[in-house]
Amino acid sequence: MANQNQNGQNLAAVLEAPASRLKTVSRPIPSPGSDELVVRNYAIAANPVDWKIQDYGFAINKFPTVLGSDGCGVVTAVGSSVTKFKVGDRVTGFAGVIYNSDINHGAWQTYTILREIATMKIPDSMSYEEGCVFPMAMATSAVALFANLGIPRPTGNVAPQESGFLVWGASSSVGSSAVQLARNLGFKVFATASPAHHQYLRSLGAFEVFDYRDPAVVDKIAASAKSSGTPIKFGFDTVGEGAAAKQSADVLSTSGGAGGKLVLVLEWSESDPQPEGIEILKTMAFRLATDQAELGAWFFNEYLPNALANGSIVPAPRIEVAGKGIEAAQDVLDRLKAGVSGKKLVVTLADA
Ligand SMILES: NC(=O)c1ccc[n+]([C@@H]2O[C@H](COP(=O)([O-])OP(=O)(O)OC[C@H]3O[C@@H](n4cnc5c(N)ncnc54)[C@H](OP(=O)(O)O)[C@@H]3O)[C@@H](O)[C@H]2O)c1
Repeated sequence: MANQNQNGQNLAAVLEAPASRLKTVSRPIPSPGSDELVVRNYAIAANPVDWKIQDYGFAINKFPTVLGSDGCGVVTAVGSSVTKFKVGDRVTGFAGVIYNSDINHGAWQTYTILREIATMKIPDSMSYEEGCVFPMAMATSAVALFANLGIPRPTGNVAPQESGFLVWGASSSVGSSAVQLARNLGFKVFATASPAHHQYLRSLGAFEVFDYRDPAVVDKIAASAKSSGTPIKFGFDTVGEGAAAKQSADVLSTSGGAGGKLVLVLEWSESDPQPEGIEILKTMAFRLATDQAELGAWFFNEYLPNALANGSIVPAPRIEVAGKGIEAAQDVLDRLKAGVSGKKLVVTLADA
């Protein structure tokens, strides 16, 4: 194992049991396994699953724990079989506590263990605050596009796709990553969001953006798809609440017809009958580090760093530094639970 002098302490936002409040605790600095690295985080992003696990206690089976999927910082130690990273690299990565229940793999602490296959370098010009927005949101979209929908990985020049691609809730973290990824894969992206975010989403690559609160939204998307000669056979509901899934399915039924495929971030509501002829699938971000680990290694170690370097993927949605220090974690999760519009809440960690 190669490591550098790990000064300071590992302050962690510890969740002692489901439904308790986070406590700031000093923990030992962890050591990496052979295919892992340790990252000293300088920025950490909040995700809805953090407060959901805190409230409901699913996914993680060992407590106390440290939550969090998105940390960004500097590599301080690498395991014996790690070849793609070295001490001092600026990286971000998908922390694994959500699927392995290992407290050392939670992002809400100063030092986090990441697996090599779920880690990516960030450009020198990119801040840690910008870098921490990618792992969870991008993993969720990558599983949706490549694993659920079976879109081939891009090689060389990307040809335009025959189908359009619907992103419902495009101003969300997952939605804004899906817009960029689908655009890079050659799709004409039809998106929904509040009007305040329409111009921004066009700047990320959306072809047309619609207000999801408009009662005629489904008909308007279908009309746009028709007039641009692009049936929409693929959809991604990145919201998972209210009528989002049902309306997304209606868009595919109306504008793409039978054979369409719709990916959800949450479950299809049992109160709605499943749409005829539309296949309903569900993404799970952590699959990029479990049964889709080979896809994950390609995505994190190759595709994303290249896309960041050539500017075809940019940090999105807009970033708000919502707190400083690990002590801010609980406030930031409370704010995220109350709801955000088109922004990613991030905490920064100063030098020890
Ligand atoms: N399955 C998985 O592996 C996985 C992974 C990550 C996230 N998730 C889930 O995916 C969901 C989104 O996560 P996130 O981090 O992307 O959330 P987020 O950024 O916090 O979502 C906030 C956004 O949701 C939009 N929104 C809310 N209701 C909407 C509706 N009815 N139609 C369209 N947009 C709506 C808002 O849009 P406007 O401001 O434009 O109104 C807002 O910008 C959460 O439920 C999360 O738990 C699942």
